[in-house]
Amino acid sequence: MSAGHRPIAAYQADPEQVARVLLLYSGGLDTSVMLHWIQAEYGAEVVTLTVELGQPGEDWEAIVAKARDMGAVETLVVDAREEFAADFVAPAIRANALYGGGYPLFTALARPLIAKVAVAAAREHGCDTIAHGCTGKGNDQVRIDATIAALAPELRVLAPVREWEMGREEEIAYAREHRIPVSGGTERPPYSIDDNLWGRSSEGRVIEEIDQPPPDDVFRLVTRPEEAPDEPELVRIGFESGRPASLDGDELALVELIERVAGAGCRHGVGIVDHIEDRIVGLKVRDIYEVPAATIILAAHRDLEKLVSTIHQNNFKASLDNHWAYLCYAGLWYEPLRTDLDAYMVAANEFVTGEVTVKLYKGSATVVARSSPYALYDKSLAGFSESGGEFSQLASPGFIELFSLQTRMAHAVRRRDR
Ligand code: ARG
Repeated sequence: MSAGHRPIAAYQADPEQVARVLLLYSGGLDTSVMLHWIQAEYGAEVVTLTVELGQPGEDWEAIVAKARDMGAVETLVVDAREEFAADFVAPAIRANALYGGGYPLFTALARPLIAKVAVAAAREHGCDTIAHGCTGKGNDQVRIDATIAALAPELRVLAPVREWEMGREEEIAYAREHRIPVSGGTERPPYSIDDNLWGRSSEGRVIEEIDQPPPDDVFRLVTRPEEAPDEPELVRIGFESGRPASLDGDELALVELIERVAGAGCRHGVGIVDHIEDRIVGLKVRDIYEVPAATIILAAHRDLEKLVSTIHQNNFKASLDNHWAYLCYAGLWYEPLRTDLDAYMVAANEFVTGEVTVKLYKGSATVVARSSPYALYDKSLAGFSESGGEFSQLASPGFIELFSLQTRMAHAVRRRDR
């Protein structure tokens, strides 16, 4: 194990100059070993920061107690759930955000917020460096490093897992040697997990056998569809300008609404995604996602958006949605283009107001009804009744004649040449 290589990028911490470190601390093995290691290797003080984003089943007090026992000079916990929902998940909903057609980006959305909270805490507590537990193989290092470098050029970044060349066995040995409690024992946890209120992912170990279906023990959130109730359940989601605002007629704060929709989805086996993904750093990876709330809410939002938008808006927006998702995935949350695109998303969502009913049944979430005061839909025009007013069937042949003009000309010209 080494105290780190010479920095390659200007934002990386120079081991000589690290005095007080803000460590993004989860309480897991990597960041616990890190808490000790930073003090030992760099003689630096460590302030820990743990950010709550709706990870189910975490014991925040136990995490703080552990950090304090291991010598942290300050142990901060920030509940950022509301900000996460309002400023990260809500924009993602307006942008129908899915990366690679299947991943609703919950991890990617969380990282810039975690980094932003870390920057504020580092400044407030006089830290010169932010340390995190990302490896050198994943996307999260890109998201966290890029955000810190953009928001706080005066701070340095330390990612010990990227450099310390300890595997899990060595980390456990290190933990034993230095009396670092290993939560959940030294049994190898089967998968690498990340979760928050917008979803959960599992990677690694047998999930890497891409020619095999995922084993049942991956699923800790969503009921297996085979075991879901035989009776379907309907959920009715109300939107105001593209933002989810009510569930079955009850107005709810966004965090609670997401949690309740997730609960219904979990019961009905909704939101399992087996995803082959292109990481920003080049590797391909397979993730198993459990994303019940995102699956249901995004389906409802897309349906309502289509109903109130014109054919031109609908055709155009999909490509911007894709680009938005890519920027988010790539860790460029604070890239000005993302803000520019957001302005468009807000404008395009102004009239995305109404209600959508989604039927949950044994793994599927299907939109079955919708209504909006801004629907560009008029039953009397759409049906086969006598036409009149805004629409005349008698006008259709004239439209078709002009609409097909170039196609007809192309055929005529080619016939003549032949
Ligand atoms: N592949 C996703 C992403 O890059 C999720 C990664 C979550 N990490 C994990 N260890 N499961 O955003």
